[in-house]
Amino acid sequence: MQAYKELAEIIRREQVADDIYRLTVKAPDIASASMPGQFVMVRTVEGLDPLLRRPFSIHQVAEGGMVKILFKVIGKGTKALANMEVGRKLDILGPIGRGFTVANDSLHFLVGGGIGIAPLFFLARQILQKSEPSSIRVLLGARTRDEIFTLAGEFESMGLAVETITEDGSLGKQGLVTELMTDLQQEKPVMIYGCGPYPMLRAVANTCRKKKWSCQVSLETMMACGLAACLGCAVQRADMNGYVHVCKDGPVFDMDDVAWL
Ligand SMILES: Cc1cc2nc3c(=O)[nH]c(=O)nc-3n(C[C@H](O)[C@H](O)[C@H](O)COP(=O)(O)OP(=O)(O)OC[C@H]3O[C@@H](n4cnc5c(N)ncnc54)[C@H](O)[C@@H]3O)c2cc1C
Ligand code: FES
Repeated sequence: MQAYKELAEIIRREQVADDIYRLTVKAPDIASASMPGQFVMVRTVEGLDPLLRRPFSIHQVAEGGMVKILFKVIGKGTKALANMEVGRKLDILGPIGRGFTVANDSLHFLVGGGIGIAPLFFLARQILQKSEPSSIRVLLGARTRDEIFTLAGEFESMGLAVETITEDGSLGKQGLVTELMTDLQQEKPVMIYGCGPYPMLRAVANTCRKKKWSCQVSLETMMACGLAACLGCAVQRADMNGYVHVCKDGPVFDMDDVAWL
């Protein structure tokens, strides 16, 4: 699939939580080619530091050729992005990678941990094109209330059932997001779409195996190029016979394709 390089004007900048921001940029070629679960590589500064583009999930696409990214401030690149003014141009490359495959005749459980929530909005909108809101359940976990409160509300305003859990108990139950999965009993087939830190996804995959649910996960690794050139995003294959590469073969994988070391 073709990736486009655009100099995308920043149309809107929102501070969603203490250290979480959302940028809306005008990137019509990328918007029209994007599928949920794919990502973009963004140059975060005009100078040389940081030199490498940073990967971000496509959070949403919207009318008028808009692409949104939702990100947490981690280091230099994300700090620079958070300080970008409306009207500035962002050098952005995408869409990249293999996204989620929407399952037919299934219940759809969207499981997000922390900033891993980002791609699940675009996915929810895609599922809603063919399925009733009642077929979707959104399970969100985070360290504290601040990280997910606004985002949980945004899923609710799409008419979706949302359950939250936080490590400090400040929103929803206290615990980890997999605990929201354990009590769910379903007669219809279930597809889990998971996105979040690696240990969370491993726990999600383990729960799915026990329950005999299908599961796709969006993996995050360090990425130098995002273009299948540096091989730095390698993850061990489930059969231990070599590696898959997150930027080329993913970032979304069937849980059975990965070794979960
Ligand atoms: C496919 C993909 C999609 C992503 N989507 C999003 C998204 O939608 N929203 C979002 O906020 N983030 C997302 N990330 C993570 C994001 O790319 C990193 O947070 C960002 O590159 C950090 O850049 P920085 O310059 O701010 O931090 P750096 O200065 O590069 O790093 C600061 C510290 O964080 C560590 N670090 C950097 N990146 C990662 C990472 N991916 N995992 C664990 N530790 C890391 C570094 O080792 C370093 O210690 C995604 C990553 C991938 C691979
Ligand atoms: S990031 Fe370079 S090969 Fe995947």
